[in-house]
Amino acid sequence: MVTCACGGGMHAGQDLQRLIQTLAHPRDPLQTCRMTTQSLIIDCDPGVDDAVALMLAFGAARLDLLAVTTVGGNVPLKKTTRNALMLRQIAGREDVPVRGGADRPLRRKPASASEFHGEEGLGYLPPFTPDRGIADGHGVDAIIDNVMSRPEGSVALAILGPMTNLAHALRKEPMIQKRLGPVAVMGGARSEGGNITPSAEFNIWADPEAADEVLRSACPVVMFGLDVTHQVRATDVRIARLAALGTARGDTAAAMMRFSQDVEKRIVGWDAPPVHDPCPVAWLMNPDLFTLKPCRIAVEVQSELTRGHTAVEFRVDPETAPHRWATGVKADGVFDLIAESCS
Ligand code: BDR
Ligand code: CA
Repeated sequence: MVTCACGGGMHAGQDLQRLIQTLAHPRDPLQTCRMTTQSLIIDCDPGVDDAVALMLAFGAARLDLLAVTTVGGNVPLKKTTRNALMLRQIAGREDVPVRGGADRPLRRKPASASEFHGEEGLGYLPPFTPDRGIADGHGVDAIIDNVMSRPEGSVALAILGPMTNLAHALRKEPMIQKRLGPVAVMGGARSEGGNITPSAEFNIWADPEAADEVLRSACPVVMFGLDVTHQVRATDVRIARLAALGTARGDTAAAMMRFSQDVEKRIVGWDAPPVHDPCPVAWLMNPDLFTLKPCRIAVEVQSELTRGHTAVEFRVDPETAPHRWATGVKADGVFDLIAESCS
């Protein structure tokens, strides 16, 4: 048994090259540890694509899911929290604590994307009252407590909604920025343009000040923006594959994608909608599926016209660059992971 630099164990016979690489960069938080179970908190606003990301994470043996925290975003906090509880129950993962977080952005009025997710947030899935409720305490404290009580660099955070909870956590306990493992964010837009305005992606636009605070901190942010999520499309064949699994997770993921398909056909004219939120989770499970570029990312907070635009600067020293921007993805690999988790 070999102890990995990130704190876990590895068995002989696994890829020696990867072992050498990981040991050579023992504290590079912008890399995932490829060999061991990854401890993870998911911060989300379910949301149909958040729901697929949760199905992916709930079924992943590779992930030790410490908590799911919720934020107001696609729909109000009450609904995103209830939806997280519903999805947890459907996935049979009531061992994972769910905690509610911020109900509004740092300074802006609460946003909504219910036209893309349905009034209740989960598309065609009718809401029900979950058997079990939320865990005690606030979502912001769940992030702080888990990060502060575990080995440095060992807890990853996947943010699938506005970055409000992490911004609050950084204000309350600045030490977490040095202790967090990778912060894998679905957010931002560069070459693809925006999806809520011509230049901004919804999650960053919804709370640009929070994104700005996080990106100015020492948090090791890896961003999966529209440039890469638009490469991950829910085609009929991919949806049918999930539906054919005959499991609750597979049915749920397929139903979410079908709703997106219907909505995006109507609003944007796309037959195969992008599946955004599973991307950061998939990267944590298999980093080889993605191409990342070292960079520095800044967020527009002044202009109303370009509010939430992500300015991605690639002309940086790769050794010291604070962030990573995803540019490429093997989409079939992401869907293979989703199918595996939903089996
Ligand atoms: C992001 O915005 C939300 O509507 C989705 O859930 C996703 O997180 C895509 O821009
Ligand atoms: Ca989301």
